[in-house]
Amino acid sequence: MIDLRSDTLTRPTEAMRRAMARAEVGDDVYGEDPTVLALEERVAELFGHEAALFMPTGSMANVLAVRALVQPGQEVLCEASAHIARAELGAHAAYSGITMRTWFHPRGQVDLPMVRQMFAPDLGPFFVRTAALSVECTHNFAGGAVLPIEDLRDLRELATAAGATVHVDGARIWNAHVATGTPLAEYGAVADVMAVCLSKGLGAPVGSLTLGSADVIAETRVWRKRMGGGMRQVGVLAAAGLHALDHHVERLADDHAHARLLAEACGVDPEGVDTNIVVVPRSDAPDFVARAADAGVRVSMVGPTTVRLVTHLDVTREDAEKAAAALSAL
Ligand SMILES: Cc1ncc(COP(=O)(O)O)c(C=O)c1O
Repeated sequence: MIDLRSDTLTRPTEAMRRAMARAEVGDDVYGEDPTVLALEERVAELFGHEAALFMPTGSMANVLAVRALVQPGQEVLCEASAHIARAELGAHAAYSGITMRTWFHPRGQVDLPMVRQMFAPDLGPFFVRTAALSVECTHNFAGGAVLPIEDLRDLRELATAAGATVHVDGARIWNAHVATGTPLAEYGAVADVMAVCLSKGLGAPVGSLTLGSADVIAETRVWRKRMGGGMRQVGVLAAAGLHALDHHVERLADDHAHARLLAEACGVDPEGVDTNIVVVPRSDAPDFVARAADAGVRVSMVGPTTVRLVTHLDVTREDAEKAAAALSAL
């Protein structure tokens, strides 16, 4: 089986497992795990933020990032198919008392005139106040679309002028960085608080980080413990992340090339595939998924008429070519 359901499916490589086995560890709730501290420092520096905090999941990294910016009863604006709106199971409402309003863009992009129109300043006890604007780059359900850095800067400017903040869900920011050559620090500069994942394209088994100012991260550390996310000798997991940063960033370009190959095989314009995710419109989606599995390729359905293919570390060029041949026959 060639598994194209998600880039979260990767298994740690032998070299990554060796790095994990060798990791120096300590109790991270005491702030004494040297490998976690090294990872946090390195990732904060990459994005030009003061501090970072290791998280078990991207969802927790997002939930605690957004709650650092938005008070209960306030709102965050985001795109309609953003992970925070669709796939975190209402966590921002359930845990943080936050409401959301969304704009729609078929490729998950910033619609600045719409954001401007939707933005609600503090008008006293009449309307919900917009406290933060959130963007996802790359955008998962919009097919791994990159949000151009110029648009993110414009959004930042709007937020600053309006007295609001910016959250970036950067679960796959590494893919955007490799696809565009935009330095990670330029993405970091548009965000007050951001979340990044090591367990997607980078191939670590676990791990995400929330990044922000030292004060925000100190407070987020309290919230992580409060949520039951205080971890102990997790240097073994942080070591996987450090290994991924050393060895699995530049190779994302291969995943992007494989995705374009698969797009072509499925009749999707490869020019519209920015990174490692291909969205294929199929009126027969459930049937297509079943027939693909019969042909040795696992793909997923992300809507009643939408199939998704994701390339990753465990899909070689040969796998991609085989999958392309099988899918084009369907
Ligand atoms: C864009 C985006 N953000 C956040 C997450 C959440 O990550 P996790 O599954 O580690 O909670 C995902 C997961 O796929 C994602 O695609």
